[in-house]
Amino acid sequence: MSVSHFSVKAFDDLGTGSVVVLLHGFPFNRSMWREQIEFLSARGYRCIAPDLRGLGENKSYGEIATMEDMARDVAALMDELKINRAVICGLSMGCYVAFEFAHLFPSRVEALVLAGARAEGADKAEKKSREQQAKRVLEQGMTHAIDSILQSLLSRRTLTEKPDVVSRVREMVASTDPRGAAAAQRGMAARRDYRDDLANISAPTLIIAGREDGVRKPIDAESIHQGIKNSRLEVIDEAGHLMNMEQPEIVNSVMLEFLSQS
Ligand code: MLT
Repeated sequence: MSVSHFSVKAFDDLGTGSVVVLLHGFPFNRSMWREQIEFLSARGYRCIAPDLRGLGENKSYGEIATMEDMARDVAALMDELKINRAVICGLSMGCYVAFEFAHLFPSRVEALVLAGARAEGADKAEKKSREQQAKRVLEQGMTHAIDSILQSLLSRRTLTEKPDVVSRVREMVASTDPRGAAAAQRGMAARRDYRDDLANISAPTLIIAGREDGVRKPIDAESIHQGIKNSRLEVIDEAGHLMNMEQPEIVNSVMLEFLSQS
């Protein structure tokens, strides 16, 4: 497996110490982890944040980018950087990739952080809707969906009081290449049902949910928490799906506390 998907420098690598790999959500890119990278890299952690296949500056476009493709890309990047084990931290789509990574390479997982996660696979209706959305972005581009996406992604407080976060999210979505977005939608439609994996996860796991997440309800996080023996759950107030951008100080301190105990 080559690292060609990262050949343009489509990852951040900051800090020294235990490695934390940060996997972004959809349709975003690695810049969503800016606050966590700054915070953790100043506190003894090496943060690696790749742009996943076809997203951000990762220009590897195909018909479909499966969660397994993305997990194998992450493993290849770790190989290239001579990193054997890491804390694997995902948000939403990044959690599907983290579940795949933990399934394929369990011995490489020091600990897991799952934010805005859901374990269920896609049912027929979800597969159909994702295919429609893939076709739509290919025909019409990303911008038509941004306003409706923002309402479901962000908490009321973020929408009314944090215009800088709103505009960062807007820019991330607008800058996503429709080819990468369509391929990732198809990859998410084809994902496995990760509920089957939960009982096999033995790594210490932190689950983070945004109390106002309109995309993944805190109940999704609760059921993952029930399924993973060695897990703990933190629900963040006044945060939606992008809780790490909306409440960075709180998410940073929850992560640091977990990392220092893992
Ligand atoms: C994400 O934020 O990554 C998406 O909500 C994932 C999804 O569409 O399931």
